Amino acid sequence: MNQKIAVLDFGSQYTQVIARRIRECSVYSEIMPFDTSAKRLKEEGVCGIILSGGPASVLAKGSPRPDPKIFRLGIPVLGICYGLQVMGKMLGGKVVSSKHREYGLGELSFKNGGELLKGIGSPMRVWNSHGDKIESLPDGFRAVGTTENSAYALIEDQKRKFYGMQFHPEVAHTPKGMQIIKNFLYGICGCTGDWKMSDYVERAVEKIRQTVGDKKVILGLSGGVDSSVAAALIHRAIGDQLTCVFVDNGLLRKGEREGVENLFKKNFKMRMRTVRAEALFLGRLKGVKDPERKRKIIGKTFVEVFDKAVKSIGKVDFLAQGTLYPDVIESVPIGGNPASLIKSHHNVGGLPKRMKLKLLEPLRELFKDEVRALGAELGLSKEVLWRHPFPGPGLGVRVVGDITKKRLDILREADAVLMQEMRESGLYYNLWQAFAVFLPVKTVGVMGDERTYDNVIALRIVESQDAMTADWAHIPHDILAKISNRIINEVKGVNRVVLDISSKPPATIEWE
Ligand code: XMP
Repeated sequence: MNQKIAVLDFGSQYTQVIARRIRECSVYSEIMPFDTSAKRLKEEGVCGIILSGGPASVLAKGSPRPDPKIFRLGIPVLGICYGLQVMGKMLGGKVVSSKHREYGLGELSFKNGGELLKGIGSPMRVWNSHGDKIESLPDGFRAVGTTENSAYALIEDQKRKFYGMQFHPEVAHTPKGMQIIKNFLYGICGCTGDWKMSDYVERAVEKIRQTVGDKKVILGLSGGVDSSVAAALIHRAIGDQLTCVFVDNGLLRKGEREGVENLFKKNFKMRMRTVRAEALFLGRLKGVKDPERKRKIIGKTFVEVFDKAVKSIGKVDFLAQGTLYPDVIESVPIGGNPASLIKSHHNVGGLPKRMKLKLLEPLRELFKDEVRALGAELGLSKEVLWRHPFPGPGLGVRVVGDITKKRLDILREADAVLMQEMRESGLYYNLWQAFAVFLPVKTVGVMGDERTYDNVIALRIVESQDAMTADWAHIPHDILAKISNRIINEVKGVNRVVLDISSKPPATIEWE
């Protein structure tokens, strides 16, 4: 059994980030409801309790409170933001609403730093986001650090092992925050860092088995990182009770269907159903030029095809999705827990409700890099885990203008050349995305002695951290020259290759 930290959730948008930081310290944590009883925490043998931040004000009537008995368990408690205020108030301190709401970067000063500040020099940059503040301390506490607006920005009661801070140590804007969390876990709670990703697999497998029982699960496999890892994990847990459905919509890249089938059907021996629906998709897309209409048609047709495939499988109770934590909606409903509101996956939006399926989302607490680590643990290759993002509507957004089979085939060939060169040059894994786009213009060229009038392929190769902003990648000219030569020589129907050198914004990554 791993040592365990309980994170009591008061609804902060950062609660999952706290849990993630704890995992980064190789310590197991569980997010639990804010009112989890002291009895349960004791039974579970937690070695530390963190009270998260939250959108409420402790001064408001009915604002959430933890079980008061948690302060009598003899277990270290760390309150963050709302967690600090609620602890301060419940232990006899005074909380007031601050005149100046402290939001954004601040500076924490300290002289004789407390236990949480070991190894950190004063002043340190901290990220604040709070309206209330502590005005007088509960008995036994002392102020350890101050900010411009708050004399009690970091407080502690070393005897009872209670600690609290106004600011958020878990966010990247508090650069030394990890050290504070480490000090709490290792120095105060006695954690030894006994948790690893393989332990996560074990727990997740157990949880999936309990949730699913002897029922059946269906999963829409796209071949992307998230659905692949979800499939591998669920398959590890329930084997043949899982059926994956892969829809070939005719808008896939070269060799994609075969690749997914080889991996999951042959290697993992999963139950997998491939639906070949190219004719249906292309039929409905015929003559459609408007990108938004294309997306709608592709999305609607996908749902229809998927729905039909599910029905043909027989009784299914769960729909599995590879939803990650960053997919959880970002705006925090006032007073609510953001994690309760999810953005339905754009590829299967609306499906679960209509089909009366329960959702199974085993990656919901994880961040992308953790999902990759989990995938590696489950035996997925680097090629799968570090694949570039590929949009749900596939090449449908990469053929500008009319989508025809002929255009798609030309694009597939050109894209395959680009992929091969990106991989062979070793650049692939340094890039956010590299892909080819088919342009609906013909231009004049000359091949041998003959005049040609053929298509143009654009290369879109970008660097980015999160796709919100992106810049075109400065690929060495000799590699670009090779790609261009190869596409023009090897792909029939292309006589010109151009390079997209626009950043996002104002351009987007996809052309559509
Ligand atoms: P844009 O073109 O908006 O794209 O700069 C940002 C990132 O999102 C990807 N993308 C999608 N991914 N379904 C997806 O799963 C979609 O419908 C979709 N549309 C765009 C795009 O490839 C880029 O990485």
